[in-house]
Amino acid sequence: MTQEFNKIEKVLGELKLPGDKSISHRAVMFSSMAKGTSKIYNLSDGEDVKSTQKCFIKLGAEIINCGDHLKIKGCGYKGFKKPKGNLDAGNSGTTTRLISGILIAQDFESTIIGDASLTKRPMKRIITPLSLMGGKIKSTENFTLPLHISPANKIIPIRYELPIASAQVKSAVLLAGLHCENETTVVEKLPSRDHTEKMLGLKTEHLGGKKISYVSKENYPSEKEYFVPSDFSTAAFFIVLTLLSENSVLRIKDVSLNKTRTGLLTVLKNMGARIEIENQREIAGESLGDIIAYSGKLQNVETPEEIIPNIIDEIPILTIAGVFAEGPFKINNAAELRGKETDRIKAMCHNLKLLGLAVHEYEDGFTVSGNLKNEKIVFESFEDHRIAMAFAVMSLLLKQGGKVNNFNCVNISNPNFLSQIKLITR
Ligand code: S3P
Repeated sequence: MTQEFNKIEKVLGELKLPGDKSISHRAVMFSSMAKGTSKIYNLSDGEDVKSTQKCFIKLGAEIINCGDHLKIKGCGYKGFKKPKGNLDAGNSGTTTRLISGILIAQDFESTIIGDASLTKRPMKRIITPLSLMGGKIKSTENFTLPLHISPANKIIPIRYELPIASAQVKSAVLLAGLHCENETTVVEKLPSRDHTEKMLGLKTEHLGGKKISYVSKENYPSEKEYFVPSDFSTAAFFIVLTLLSENSVLRIKDVSLNKTRTGLLTVLKNMGARIEIENQREIAGESLGDIIAYSGKLQNVETPEEIIPNIIDEIPILTIAGVFAEGPFKINNAAELRGKETDRIKAMCHNLKLLGLAVHEYEDGFTVSGNLKNEKIVFESFEDHRIAMAFAVMSLLLKQGGKVNNFNCVNISNPNFLSQIKLITR
């Protein structure tokens, strides 16, 4: 479906968004692993988290939708059963990589498949450490899906220094480490999102500029009640839309303010944005609060390498802010963007060129400058939810409006994007 957007006059009001995708995946996984019944409030309503649910139902978890919460009867340690047929992770890298860490420790065979996008994404990054732990994983010769997992003789604890900043790789190792008596250690040079550590209550420390996380069988999850704060990465699109619209103010309630996720706020504030936080509090170790964004003028600034893992999912929408800000916009040290739902460097550059902007693409980023063309453009979503929403925001800001093709892909993280836009715009 091609979605058309007209220029909005302003943004006004209040939004309450569904739960964070990363935390939701983990809440479903940990509840399914636990013995007993867990409840999850404010779960993400996106397709990715539905993929995780379907995989765990196939593995034996009982999942009941109770309206305002999800009830999960988990299988307990070693309680999963051999799935009938393949485990389909759909479009979800998080489902694939995290579930692999769990599956290598099971005494049955399993196969993970996914959609066309997921089938192209790199899996060597988990196959390497999980094999070091004794996991038996077969992939294609390019280290892509399908992944065939056979029972391991034994899962061995390791000390693993992540070669790339990736919470998915870190989590795959930590989840496998839950099946060992002795401690598994993961070392990160640039810290990535820490939901797995927080939700499992893992011991972590900062030593010599590195972050170290420890896990063992003692940390295996038990039944629990989860409250998932609203998704910061979803909120990011509405924050930027507000900053870039005239006479606008928007409050987004109960958003996750986990420090490993909110780097975008730091960058936007450095660019001159007025963003305030109210009602900040903690629930089960995760910080949340209301974000209030106001319209204003922005100026582009340098984005340091250390912040890239923190803003990795927000770079598409940060770029839209950068296009409207004063001065050229530059992003580098972000080669990881090439392995996302689509190659996001290529996708951003393609759409920015359609706008008549001067774009230079590098292996690990791009620069963009120049003036916007006054023509109605059909942007390409590349069937990537974050590219689609970034160019929806761009279209809402352009004098002539714009269109985004294959817009249905927003269902991956936020099926109600259009109604939320309608609610807060004039
Ligand atoms: C995620 C980690 C990030 C992020 C993805 C969700 C997670 O991926 O881009 O949207 O929930 O752990 P990487 O770990 O591959 O960087």
